[in-house]
Formats: sequence, structure tokens, C-alpha cells
Amino acid sequence: MLVTQLHVLLLVLVLGTLHSVNAAVVEPRRSSARCQPVEASFTSDSDVSQSQFQAVSPPGSYATDDEGLKLYLEKPRGTVHTKDGVNDVVAEGATMNSTFYVQYGKISFEIAAPEVPGVVTAAILVADQRDEIDVEILGGDTTHWQSNVFTASPADQQPLWGVFGEIEGYAKKGTVTQVHRYAIDWNEERIVWSVDGEEMRTLRKSDTSINGTLHYPSHAARIQLGIWDASNPAGTSEWAKGPIDWNSAPAKMSATFKSITVECPY
Ligand SMILES: *[C@@H]1O[C@H](CO)[C@@H](O)[C@H](O)[C@H]1NC(C)=O
Ligand SMILES: *[C@@H]1O[C@H](CO)[C@@H](O)[C@H](O)[C@H]1NC(C)=O
Repeated sequence: MLVTQLHVLLLVLVLGTLHSVNAAVVEPRRSSARCQPVEASFTSDSDVSQSQFQAVSPPGSYATDDEGLKLYLEKPRGTVHTKDGVNDVVAEGATMNSTFYVQYGKISFEIAAPEVPGVVTAAILVADQRDEIDVEILGGDTTHWQSNVFTASPADQQPLWGVFGEIEGYAKKGTVTQVHRYAIDWNEERIVWSVDGEEMRTLRKSDTSINGTLHYPSHAARIQLGIWDASNPAGTSEWAKGPIDWNSAPAKMSATFKSITVECPY
């Protein structure tokens, strides 16, 4: 008992010293209950299960190597039939969730995506209420990427997928296959999407009004990373320039997430 108390006392003293040393040298990083700074970068040594991200898809659907965290999309077993612009079987891509939520903050992703039509690489914020803020990289449009938000309102008489979507370019004539830094800078009033440090789009809360109702994401959200097969249904396949042609596409492809950063300026 005495020993234990002594240990606790020592620990408190040591931590207290470290804390004051840190406080003297390093400007404390801003954080709040709603936004905690995160700096996750992935290399071959990274143990993803120890990170603040968890796989939603099965264990074999992702891996780390020198380039980062790879999320895989593999050709489905058996024969895939293509008809009327869709595939009859859709591949299961890898998905990861953050274990934490963020409500307002700047979230940056370093991503390289495969250039295969019909494949979508996504870095999104998703709330339990289904609010979404998206970065979507289409393998069928290698010189652009897309920004989007989706916030359903009970007053909606029709789904609003696509209403707030916009196509963005790269600052320096890049393509999806290179590593780019995509950022979503989100506060109560507006969302700014940028790529490689260059602002591409600002969406203000007031821009999201439809029939007098705002459709602005305002709930705490998880970060979700994914690669998915957009070969069905027809509207999705058309948007993604699919369906995937498995005769020419690699049987296994991957999106690489090199790093994910959360900053908390708000
Ligand atoms: C991943 O996040 C989504 C969006 O918040 C949520 O619906 C889903 O339940 C989460 N899945 C897991 C396994 O945490
Ligand atoms: C907006 O109002 C029009 C006219 O009533 C309706 O047709 C449309 O579906 C409404 N939009 C949404 C998203 O509810």
C-alpha cells in the first residue's frame, strides 16, 4: 500500500515536471472536447490497430508499406457481367473509420488514388446523423477530384445526392495517382476545400439553403476512408465513369493514405 502510494506520488511529480517543462517550451496546441489534434502517418512499421483508425472491412482488405496505408479493392470472384452501363457484381472495397469524432476543425489527407474508371477513393466526414463532407477521387477523371456535402433535412421531398457536388482541379496540373494533400477546413459558418495548400472551394452555410431549409453539416463526425466500386447502380456508375472493366483493370488495386491530420483552430 505504502509502496503504491509512493509510486503514485513519484509519478505525479515526474508528470508534473514534464508538464511544466513542456508548457514552458511548447505553445500548447489548441484542442477541445469536440476537436483533438491528430497526426497519423503510415509507414511499413505502422500498426494500424494501434492507430486512431479501425478497419470496418475484413483484416486482409488493407496493409501498410513504405508508401502508407493501402486500402484494397479486389476483383470479385467468378464472372462479372456488364450490361447497360452497370456490372452485376460489385467488389467490396476497404473502409476505415476513425475511433474519434470531430466537430469543426481542419482535416487533411495525403492520398494517392488508382486511375481506374469506376473506382472511387474517398476521404469523408460522416456524422451518426448522416451529415457528410466529402473528398472523392474518381479513377475515371484523373485530372480532377470532387468536393461534396450531404445533409438530409426532414423537409426534403427528394434525395439531394449531387446537389452540392463540385469538380475541382489540382494546383499544379497533377493527376489522382500522385500523392496530394486534400483538406477540409470546417467551421460553423463555412467549409473550405483545398488541395496542396491551394483553396479550391468555399461553401458557406447560407449557400446550402433549399426551399428555405439549410443543409449544412453541423454534427460531430467520424473520419471515414475508403475505396469502392461504383459499378452499380446506373446513376452512380455513370457519375464514376464506370463500370469497372475487369478485363483491363488490375485484379487488385489500392488507394494509399500516407497521412491524416486533424488541426483544431476553432
Ligand atoms: C463507421 O462510421 C460510420 C459513420 O459514422 C458508422 O455509421 C459506422 O457504424 C462506423 N462503423 C464502425 C465499425 O465503427
Ligand atoms: C423544393 O420545392 C419544390 C416545389 O415544391 C419541390 O418540387 C422540390 O422537391 C423541393 N426540394 C426539396 C429538396 O425538397
